Amino acid sequence: SCAVITIDGPTASGKGTVAHRVAKHLGFQYLDSGALYRLTALNAIGNGVALDDEASIASLAKVLPCRFDHGHVYLSASDVTDDVRAEQIGVAASRIAVLPLVRQALVELQLSFRTGNGLVADGRDMGTVIFPDAALKVFLTASAEARASRRYKQLKEKGIAANMEDLVKDLIERDARDSSRTTAPLKPAPDAYILDTSDMTAEQAVQQVLDWYAQ
Ligand code: CDP
Repeated sequence: SCAVITIDGPTASGKGTVAHRVAKHLGFQYLDSGALYRLTALNAIGNGVALDDEASIASLAKVLPCRFDHGHVYLSASDVTDDVRAEQIGVAASRIAVLPLVRQALVELQLSFRTGNGLVADGRDMGTVIFPDAALKVFLTASAEARASRRYKQLKEKGIAANMEDLVKDLIERDARDSSRTTAPLKPAPDAYILDTSDMTAEQAVQQVLDWYAQ
C-alpha cells in the first residue's frame, strides 16, 4: 500500500512549500487539496453559480475538469495557475468549503492522488478526514503576523499589490471560518505532530518532517 504523509494547517502556514519539497525529496505524489477548493470556486464563479448554491457547486465539483502538470494548473483547457492563487479566490474557496455536499463531492478526487511510492497531502482535513490512516500526520502553525508577512512576500513577488493590515484581517477571518465550520473543521488530528514554523525557514521545517518520517 501507498504511504501517506499529511500536512494540515491554517492559511499561509507554509504547508504548500513544505509539502511540495517533502514530496519531491521522497519521490512521492503531491496533493494540494486547497487547489481543488480554489478550482471549484473559480469554476462556480465562471459558471455564474452563487457561492452558497450547495447542490449546484457540488455537481460541478463532482466532475471538476482539473489537471496538474509541471507546476501548472488547468481548468478544462485554460491555464489558471495564477488565477487560482488570487486572494479573492482563496476567500471564495473558504466560503464553498463550509458546504458538506461540496466537501463530499471532492473526496474521490483527493483519494485518487494516492498512487505510486507515496503521497504528501496538504490541506485542512487530510489527517482527520481524507487520509486517517496516514503514516505521518503533521499540523503546521505560525503566528498570524508571520503568516501575513509570508503571504505579503508571495504576492509582492508576483507583482500583486497587498496591504499587511488587510492580509492579517483576512487571515484571521479565514481561520475563524475554517475552524468554526461543523464539517471537517481545521484542527490537528489527535495523532498529529505540531510544528510551529513562525521562527523556522522552509528548509528547517522540511527537515523536521523528513526526520519524523524516518523515525
Ligand atoms: O493557500 P491557503 O492556505 O490560503 O489556502 P488553500 O490551502 O489553497 O485553501 C483555500 C481554502 O480552501 C481554505 O481557506 C479552506 O477553507 C479550504 N480548504 C479546505 O476546507 N479543506 C482543505 N483540505 C483544503 C482547503
